[in-house]
Amino acid sequence: MESKIKILNEKLAQAYLGGGQDKIEKQHQKKKLTARERLMYLLDEGSFEEIGALVTHRTTDFNMENQIFYGDGVVTGYGTVNGRLSYVFAQDFTVIGGSLSETNAEKICKIMDLALKVGAPIIGLNDSGGARIQEGVRSLGGYADIFYKNVQSSGVIPQLSAIMGPCAGGAVYSPAMTDFTIMVENTSYMFVTGPNVVKTVTNEQVTSEELGGASTHATKSGVAHKTASNDIACLDDIKKLLSYLPQNNKETPALIPFKLQDEIRDELSNIVPLDANKPYDMHKVVSGIIDVDSFYEIHKDYAENIIVGFARLGGRSIGIVANQPQFLAGVLDVNSSKKAARFVRFCDAFNIPLLVLEDVPGFLPGTDQEWNGIIVHGAKLLYAFSEATVPRVTVITRKAYGGAYDVMNSKHIGADMNFAWPSAEIAVMGAKGAAEIIFKREIKSAENPEAKWKEKEAEYASHFANPFSATQRGFIDEVILPKETRRKLIKAFSMLENKEVTKPDRKHGNIPL
Ligand code: HXC
Repeated sequence: MESKIKILNEKLAQAYLGGGQDKIEKQHQKKKLTARERLMYLLDEGSFEEIGALVTHRTTDFNMENQIFYGDGVVTGYGTVNGRLSYVFAQDFTVIGGSLSETNAEKICKIMDLALKVGAPIIGLNDSGGARIQEGVRSLGGYADIFYKNVQSSGVIPQLSAIMGPCAGGAVYSPAMTDFTIMVENTSYMFVTGPNVVKTVTNEQVTSEELGGASTHATKSGVAHKTASNDIACLDDIKKLLSYLPQNNKETPALIPFKLQDEIRDELSNIVPLDANKPYDMHKVVSGIIDVDSFYEIHKDYAENIIVGFARLGGRSIGIVANQPQFLAGVLDVNSSKKAARFVRFCDAFNIPLLVLEDVPGFLPGTDQEWNGIIVHGAKLLYAFSEATVPRVTVITRKAYGGAYDVMNSKHIGADMNFAWPSAEIAVMGAKGAAEIIFKREIKSAENPEAKWKEKEAEYASHFANPFSATQRGFIDEVILPKETRRKLIKAFSMLENKEVTKPDRKHGNIPL
């Protein structure tokens, strides 16, 4: 027995060395941890159970029989993150550049199958040169097997991706189909074709970092939901993100014990400026409402005119969607609509109640927006809210104008509780524009058109630049004081806890894509 155990231990020791000590040093020189080091940091101490440590590839083409490494470039298994079961795979760049072989893909698929059967999150740590070139179509097939499983798991278990090195070619589509992608700054990149191909095809000269680095995807494309300054920060981010999520779509996120007290937050009283044209930072409203320091922002630097993220409210995990008057006056445009729609759908899939904080002057006008399809993208957000069955509560802090009033979780599209602050203005459009249209003739024929316009603007404003007209019709349930908002919301979400909605029987809806 002893000699057999010795053989096993030797093989395992080899597996633990990945591509060898020199490759590990190279990885460290690039300021990257190895696959195993990453998993050891991510998972609770002593909780990792590896599956498939001794798997090897079966390729003999291109001299590959001389390049056999136990594990074959990916470390897979399960463990716990803050006590909660999670399935993991970490691509090992020290082994043939972490490239994806047929067997390497089989290992990942095995873990994905287990995660789906058991109902627990799957976390992928990506660091790979892409399809293993020596294996040709076999590795492409491996990718497609993973993509297929990503889709089967979508909306059933949370799928999180960290990009901690290269992620190029079709390989990018697995992270893209997971729920959240976090990229490490300066050491990771994602693109469908690299700078060399770009140069050949379009004659554009661009660096990897400009083309697909963390900052590019966090600000320009929205592919990255978050960036982290290094591997450790990235893994910390994943741990924190998981804390807001349930294990699967049949569960609700963990509720932190909480005792309701007066919950008055005076700081909320003076955030909205008296002048409706003055901006303010909606983050202040968010932090005035939620449990202290509990906001986890998603897509912080992308489409900043809308804020989305997770928070805790009275110990409960919630998703927040909030217009940001500080950027583009908080208008809805193509990118903010897409950003918010995807977030709403995630929350709905995983039983995370939604809070909407609304101050929106409408949709952004202009050829750029129209030609880029604001109609179809705005419809995404409208659709996402309309189909969401989780508890949904809205607070209108100031403007709720035009179609954006309907879209931003109005009562009409299924919100459960709609509150407004006394500063709310709920109307088809701003008073100035409205007066110009409906009093056009009177203004034109007046002795002093400018003064008439002002007078009519004031008349329209006194009619609609308040929350009362909507409240009289029951579109707003209650006008509340800003300082009472936290208490009102905690009680509303608690009241809605057992909400159930029966949906029409259908294969799936047809969200405008
Ligand atoms: C096989 C690969 C590989 C790959 C890297 N290696 N990528 N082996 N298949 N795809 C090997 C290298 O030969 C090298 O082996 C080791 O991994 C480390 O790579 P280096 O080049 O030394 O590292 P570095 O300088 O950091 O460059 C990393 C890299 C580069 C930028 C990722 O390796 C690279 O460009 N690789 C090819 C990328 C690529 O075109 N992949 C295919 C994408 S298409 P040795 O033995 O020297 O250590 C694709 C299609 C997916 O993935 C489609 C899905 C639908």
